[in-house]
Amino acid sequence: MRVVSGIQPTGNLHLGNYLGAIRNWVRMQDAMEEGQECFFFLADLHAISQPHDPAELKRGTLEMAAALVACGIDPTRSTLFNQAQVPAHAELQWLLNGTARMGWLNRMTQWKDKAGKNREGQSVALFGYPVLQAADVLLYQATHVPVGEDQKQHLELARDIAQKFNNDFASEDAPVFTLPEPTVPPQAARIMSLRNGSAKMSKSDPSEMSRIALVDDADAIMKKVRKAKTDPEPLPSEEAGLEDRPEALNLVTIYAALSDTDAASVLRDFGGEGFGKFKPALGELMIDKLSPISQRLRELLADPEEIDAILARGAAKARESAAPTLTAAYQALGLLRH
Ligand code: TRP
Repeated sequence: MRVVSGIQPTGNLHLGNYLGAIRNWVRMQDAMEEGQECFFFLADLHAISQPHDPAELKRGTLEMAAALVACGIDPTRSTLFNQAQVPAHAELQWLLNGTARMGWLNRMTQWKDKAGKNREGQSVALFGYPVLQAADVLLYQATHVPVGEDQKQHLELARDIAQKFNNDFASEDAPVFTLPEPTVPPQAARIMSLRNGSAKMSKSDPSEMSRIALVDDADAIMKKVRKAKTDPEPLPSEEAGLEDRPEALNLVTIYAALSDTDAASVLRDFGGEGFGKFKPALGELMIDKLSPISQRLRELLADPEEIDAILARGAAKARESAAPTLTAAYQALGLLRH
């Protein structure tokens, strides 16, 4: 089993990022057995496919790496790196560009959504984005790729590219690429804004009160939870009672995610209680779960050289793991290279 996954680098990480992708990575890492391995990377090469600010990209890359480590990705057990330090990603993308078909890429819903009505004005990188993503996983012979539902189509494309390449350029008993399986985590919680239960918790919301930042200390957490928007009703004792109560649903969802249960079980404990009782309990739970993370994150952010060193070590390991597959791909294509 070889797990490979990437995440776009952003700064100002918050509870939604943690309970979405990051915690799932940590769990996959912790479930690995002898001989199994995880590769986790920051998709900084993907980030230049759309207009971006270079200073912000650099800051986001360091912050995201720090957050992953603070949340429990252990760089001595998992290979943690950023794509830009492993040239094999860009190289393999170019080799795969010969196999990927325009028609396949044209069908990608992310391309259609991001380009909208202005396809002519998009970068070539945005169109080729899924080919780089295929290179990301094929390079390491990934067997399992944990992704959100929205990335499944890209993974299916990676399988199609791998299959066509193997068919066209490799013998049946010695395929160059392994076909990866997308694994969509069952309970990736959707965490909403604390000010508006119908909007996702987001780093770009102008109100700090809308999100729990991963750097927040205990006081900040408790204050934000106390001020979170709610309604005047007590909590229901069953999930159906949360319908049309997006703020109440969100707080219950957060409680359930942090305590590793489900909404039904939280409501068994708190059904009939008002928010005057539920909010302090939620605040305490958050402080309990997030304090070790925020403390480690603040330490790492104060020591960017340490983060640099972690990424450099990870990139060295990744370059080594990628080399045989990259060489095999060059050779299969008849490209002279020793
Ligand atoms: N496209 C992914 C996203 O936006 C990030 C990503 C890049 C990725 N390369 C990957 C995910 C390879 C899984 C495997 O979330």
